[in-house]
Amino acid sequence: MGTTDDRTAGLAARAREVGFEQSSTLAVGRLLSVLAASKPGGRMLELGTGVGLGVVHLLRGMSATATLVTVELDPVLSGIAQGEIDDPRVEFVVADGGEWLAAPARAGESFDLVFADTWPGKFSDRDKALALVAPGGLYVVDDLVPQPSWPPDHQARVDVLTNELGELDGWTTVRIDDATGVMICTRLR
Ligand SMILES: C[S@@+](CC[C@H](N)C(=O)[O-])C[C@H]1O[C@@H](n2cnc3c(N)ncnc32)[C@H](O)[C@@H]1O
Repeated sequence: MGTTDDRTAGLAARAREVGFEQSSTLAVGRLLSVLAASKPGGRMLELGTGVGLGVVHLLRGMSATATLVTVELDPVLSGIAQGEIDDPRVEFVVADGGEWLAAPARAGESFDLVFADTWPGKFSDRDKALALVAPGGLYVVDDLVPQPSWPPDHQARVDVLTNELGELDGWTTVRIDDATGVMICTRLR
């Protein structure tokens, strides 16, 4: 297995090959590593694998006994990640995030960090994703700062997201508008 830098460079090249432009930035990746490192032995969840950039950064911070489930709708993208990342701590799931969140198997499950990086768990089914976060656990979203690529109605959606996250009862929340913009929410109880 190569270093994190080898793997991120390899994944970035594969993303370019298939025209995938939604990978996490390096700044967000570093943040994910730091947050994952704060949960030794923890369970991590990523909704939206892409080609696996977030996975590499999460794995970099995770302890040897921590685990990660990452869910992706597109089998081609997940296949790229699975082909490039060989680590027993990660479970790749190819599924619709909304269906995965609604599955009976989720009852009683909990995670110490949820990176909600696709529609389900972020703009839809957010209550289900938040319900999976353990006390003291983290819920993380990025892509909050307006981008030229956003469709005209997306700003309103992001405003609802950030307002609702900022008002969550029983959570403490910070918004950081560096890079693409990130919100980190910690469940208090
Ligand atoms: C922002 S990208 C993920 C980037 C990745 N987390 C990273 O850190 O590089 C969003 C991903 O969500 C996937 N996606 C879109 N709709 C989805 C759905 N309903 N369920 C699961 N994944 C979905 C897209 O195919 C895309 O790969």
